[in-house]
Amino acid sequence: MKNFISVNDVRNINQLVAKALAYKANPFADRHLGADKRVGMLFLNPSLRTRLSTQIAAVNLGMEAIVFNVDKEGWALEFEDGAIMSGSTVEHVKDAAPILGQYFDIICIRTFPSLKNREDDYSELVINSFIQYSGVPVVSLESATLHPLQSLTDILTIKESINNSPLQMLAKPKIVLTWAPHVKVLPQCVANSFAQWINAWGEAEFVITHPEDYELSAAYTRGATITHNQDEALKGADFIYVKNWSTFTDYGKIYSNDPLWMLTEEKLRLTNNARVLHCLPVRRNIELSDEILDSSNSIVTQEAGNRVWAAQAVLSEILSPSP
Ligand code: CP
Repeated sequence: MKNFISVNDVRNINQLVAKALAYKANPFADRHLGADKRVGMLFLNPSLRTRLSTQIAAVNLGMEAIVFNVDKEGWALEFEDGAIMSGSTVEHVKDAAPILGQYFDIICIRTFPSLKNREDDYSELVINSFIQYSGVPVVSLESATLHPLQSLTDILTIKESINNSPLQMLAKPKIVLTWAPHVKVLPQCVANSFAQWINAWGEAEFVITHPEDYELSAAYTRGATITHNQDEALKGADFIYVKNWSTFTDYGKIYSNDPLWMLTEEKLRLTNNARVLHCLPVRRNIELSDEILDSSNSIVTQEAGNRVWAAQAVLSEILSPSP
């Protein structure tokens, strides 16, 4: 694996999941792999889980992990080619990235979208600039449009739950991605990425449900059944992924915030006693009710814990010599 930006960087999802689960069983099996290697973790936006789980994963592999909060501690970076830098930006990525490429063996980066200009956000200029100019492998810690470490974790958590339950008898579990209300304008990246990975995985009946006007890009959802009827979507679900996102078509807006879209115990009764996932952080009693989050149906804590093993599997793939 050269970079980890989307599911397209993965040759075999099930093999990567198996590797992650093997690390969960034996975290220090490959401590030699990252010896004398250094990972730079660049944050242009906040994080709890991604930052700490990836740091732990790197240390488990014997690497040194250095965190750099670019947004707070670094020079303001310019990404536009040919920019006349007379404004607030101090250093061009063309100059900064090759230096970081000398300091680090792998660069991990988190960068959120502006949610102002869809074309700019979906061009993934920030992460692509680091790939172009750093000269070392780049791992997305969530980009403008995708969150691949989260999605790999989500599939491994679903597989783990299936392996530990009567669901292993099912040919294909039913997985529902449902939109939820939120008070802030949020990116589409977690939902895009989840859809992209579940479609590529191909081992589930996949349904996406959201209010009208919240359509995601077809580039990620193609292959899923899409409905505006949440109750219909939830019928017989084995897993429910709850997530808010802002509008894609009329970009970066909140059209409605109907509280009836929040998942409740009553709605859960429509399902096959579904397990509930959420990437976190979650707004309690806005996105997801206390009664669900505090119930045994919620696997969000297990899911967040699994972020370590997903990150470790990805870093390990990048460190391992290609066959
Ligand atoms: N799910 C997730 O990416 O969490 P953080 O934003 O805390 O890293």
